[in-house]
Amino acid sequence: MVEDSLSPAAITDGLDTRFIGQEVISYPSLPSTNDAAKRRAREGDKEGTVIIAEEQTAGRGRIGRSWLSPRGSVALSVILYPQLAYLSSLIMVASLATANAIERVTSLKAQLKWPNDVLVNGKKVCGILVESDVKGNKVDYAVIGIGLNVNINLADFPGIAPFATSLSHELGRYVSRRQIIRNLLAEAERLYLALPEGDSVFRQWRERLVTLGQQVRVSSGEATYTGIAESVASDGSLLLRQPDGNLLKIVAGDVTLRQ
Ligand code: BTN
Repeated sequence: MVEDSLSPAAITDGLDTRFIGQEVISYPSLPSTNDAAKRRAREGDKEGTVIIAEEQTAGRGRIGRSWLSPRGSVALSVILYPQLAYLSSLIMVASLATANAIERVTSLKAQLKWPNDVLVNGKKVCGILVESDVKGNKVDYAVIGIGLNVNINLADFPGIAPFATSLSHELGRYVSRRQIIRNLLAEAERLYLALPEGDSVFRQWRERLVTLGQQVRVSSGEATYTGIAESVASDGSLLLRQPDGNLLKIVAGDVTLRQ
């Protein structure tokens, strides 16, 4: 199957957004789109600029992990200059935008797993890495990095197959990356612009988290906690009800569902 073009024009032509995705820079290969986006943000590139790579050779995941981005997947980063109050909501914007785009373009149902994974049929299809530079109470820049397994043959990557999937694998057919990206960018802008209007993005995110109400194990730094994932706070933290009845607020970590 010949992949569709991810040229700037293929993404931007007729894209119904004000700023996200109006400027696209695409590369056949990059070490990491987040690193390229951070360099450009430091140079003051326009808000909404998107960096896309057909493949990443040193894609980065959360907590120092690596991220596999072969051809056929989507690796992109969006440059934003949000107010500090909205920084913690960018994970919600990115994961909801990705889940909504998957559901608009395919017949698949997308779920969210705290803090920022998108799942299809219980397996991870997308990872999100938000990075920012904050000086005092001002955000210099934020970069939302999204890695989405679109057309990936899982048999080629046995290391990730037990816990990850791709859209093409779930559907048994090729999926247009261009359509996914254009939908995702439009959704990201709609949600980002809704942030000053109140807590509707937070509520949508909370409602879609498959994690809530479940028995979980959470690893956070060196520590591991178990309990029921009771809720989330508006800053994105997980509220874990521990066996002794205490409610623990966890800002960052990795969740395993326990049944
Ligand atoms: C995770 O689940 O650990 C997050 C993975 C984030 C991967 C994306 S791919 C585009 C962007 N560039 C990177 O180097 N990482 C993010």
